[in-house]
Amino acid sequence: MSQAVQGFGLGLRTDHYSDFVAAPQRVDWLEIISENYLVDGGKPLHFLDLIRRDYPMAMHGVSLSIGSTDPLDSDYLRQLKALVARVEPAWVSDHLCWTGTDSLNLHDLLPLPYSEATLRHLVPRVAQVQDLLGCPFLLENVSSYVSYRADEMSEWEFIGELVARTGCQLLLDVNNIYVSSVNHGFDPQVFIDAIPAAAVRQIHLAGHEDHGDYIIDTHDHPICDAVWDLYAYSVRRFGAVPTMIERDDHIPPLGELIAELDAVRVVAERVVAEQRQAA
Ligand SMILES: [Fe+2]
Repeated sequence: MSQAVQGFGLGLRTDHYSDFVAAPQRVDWLEIISENYLVDGGKPLHFLDLIRRDYPMAMHGVSLSIGSTDPLDSDYLRQLKALVARVEPAWVSDHLCWTGTDSLNLHDLLPLPYSEATLRHLVPRVAQVQDLLGCPFLLENVSSYVSYRADEMSEWEFIGELVARTGCQLLLDVNNIYVSSVNHGFDPQVFIDAIPAAAVRQIHLAGHEDHGDYIIDTHDHPICDAVWDLYAYSVRRFGAVPTMIERDDHIPPLGELIAELDAVRVVAERVVAEQRQAA
């Protein structure tokens, strides 16, 4: 039976396994990268089995490639379902993207053309994953650096349409919205305003590399001021949905990430208190 994921979490990284085993930490829940545990035995699964006793878990994948023209990988899905049975996560997420085609994995989360043809391609594939997993399935907006001539709608219109047609839920990555807004020149608040609020189940926050007129989504820095502001804006619209920080490179000691997570709590609690006062 999965435990409820609520409040403020972190991505579980190998650097912090022993901290989580040694003592209780001020972290409400943890997200694991599914692919790191699709193995038989070994250190990652050993620690995962220990840590999941004390922390509700969400599973986050990077290789579903929901938008690829290849059939969904049945071996991968079978392994994913076995991991779901072991971890009992509150939900499983992956990205609204494609990662390759013709069995070639480009190891990148590539944006999709936002078109009617893509929607028609995605709807049965999302249904296939939902049917197989037997737990809530969330899709995450990716950061992007290119767009397509074939685009017929904005990313936020595309996401809204996909939710309406599939009932999938959303992992909203506020940093990714900001990164794409700078790279493509749109207003990130327009994106957030258009997202169907009832579908948002989880929020990601992260840092990035700012090159002035473009941004690379590196997950190796603390959260920047603009993303803090956009997070407050998101909490005003979606409420204090479960939120976590992703750090994938230059991983600091756990205490530093928990201090940053404390700041996330402060922002969310301030916004909720302001809304209560105004009501
Ligand atoms: Fe993310």
